[in-house]
Formats: sequence, structure tokens, C-alpha cells
Amino acid sequence: MKIIKFDVIDSTNTYLKTNYDNFDNLTFVVANHQTNGKGRLGRTWIDEDDLLLSILVKENIERPTDYSLLIGAVLVKVLKKYSPKIKWPNDIIINDKKCIGILLEGVTKEKQECVIIGVGINVNTTVFPKDLLFKATSLKNESKEEINKESLLKSIINEFINEYNNYVNNKSDYLNIIRNNFYLDGKEISFLYNNKEEKGIVKGIDDMGNLIAKTDNQLLYLNSGEVTLNNIYKK
Ligand code: BTN
Repeated sequence: MKIIKFDVIDSTNTYLKTNYDNFDNLTFVVANHQTNGKGRLGRTWIDEDDLLLSILVKENIERPTDYSLLIGAVLVKVLKKYSPKIKWPNDIIINDKKCIGILLEGVTKEKQECVIIGVGINVNTTVFPKDLLFKATSLKNESKEEINKESLLKSIINEFINEYNNYVNNKSDYLNIIRNNFYLDGKEISFLYNNKEEKGIVKGIDDMGNLIAKTDNQLLYLNSGEVTLNNIYKK
């Protein structure tokens, strides 16, 4: 296990995508600030006083998307005093606002070379842009306390290594942790499925980590790689 720290970098995910060949399994890259932080769907991830972390996984990556849920379970455990909820598959929600974004990337050549788990946690940022005002929060906003980022980082790394070892030995309880802290249960969602806009009610998560949604006429099992969810935040 290795931790690489930067004060400023373009993006911790980009760094690992470019340099994964030089590093071993379970390398952690952390930055104080990103100049070109990446969000999902080509968006930018802006930070102020936050935790920006990418984890390189090179072994046991036959099912890459499991890592979205595994890191989600890790974060729920570490941050349990904030009662975080998982918005399958990539966001962590506190009090109906997004506090953590997860960006899973990979490098595939003849085979899958690695998985990169990018985690952006709004930690001590207190002011958000107007368009995010009702959608985003931070740990400090929720607790009214300044958070020690170094000790938070340590807890996340320790818990990740612990949960990764459990996962490798088929002993991880991560799916139940997700089910027990699931933001979407019973909610109506809309999503793209086979390029068609669909609506459904969320019925749970199956044993492969797929989201189960009931449309008017069928149950669909949605794989996180194939689906984009819309309109789930409270207005
Ligand atoms: C999202 O859109 O919700 C995902 C945001 C992921 C942001 C993190 S910050 C650390 C890592 N490096 C990046 O460039 N992005 C991820």
C-alpha cells in the first residue's frame, strides 16, 4: 500500500490513468486542490477545502462496477455519524443533498488493466455556487464543525483496505450495507435504458449489485454501467 500526496494536481484520477503502470495494487493518490477535477458525464468537479482521493485497484477487477458500491459502503461506515445514504451507484447523500461524488474509471487494453476509484468529498467547503445551493452539502455544513481531513483520509484508507480484503475473500457485506442505507428505495426514478427514457419505482438491489426498478409492465435489473438516473433529488 502506498499513499502519494499532491498539494495541487490537475486530477488525481487522470494522474493514475496516466501512471497506473508504475504503481502497485492499492495505491492511494490524494490532493489538496485539483485544477481540472473530473465529475461524471464529462462534468467538472470543483473543490475548495475538500478531500480528493483516487484509489488504484489492479487485482480482483473482474467486475469493475462492484467498486462503486464497495467504496460507497466504506464511506457509509466511516461517516456513519452523518447518516449518509447511497444514491446507487455513485453518490453519497446527507440530508437530501449530495456530499460525495464517486467517479469510477478504468484502463482496458487486451484486458482490464486497472480500476480507478475517484472520490470527491465536500469536507470543509461551506459556500456552494447558486445552482448547487439546494443540491450540495459538506460535512462541515452538516455538523457545524471543522473536519480534520488527515484523520478522515486515514479512516477511509483503513476501512477500504479492510473491505477490499473481505471482498477478495467473498466475505464483504457491502451489498447489505448499501441496502440498509439506500437513498432510492421506493422512489420514482427516470432513466435511460437501451437508449429509451423509462420511468419506474425502485424496488431494491439484487445480489449482483443491480438496481431493481418496476416499470408499468416489467421489473428491470439495471447495471450501473448502462444506466443514467434523472430527477431524484427533492425539489
Ligand atoms: C461526480 O460527478 O459526482 C463524481 C465526482 C468525482 C470527483 C473526484 S475528486 C478525486 C477524483 N479526481 C477527479 O478528477 N475526480 C474524482
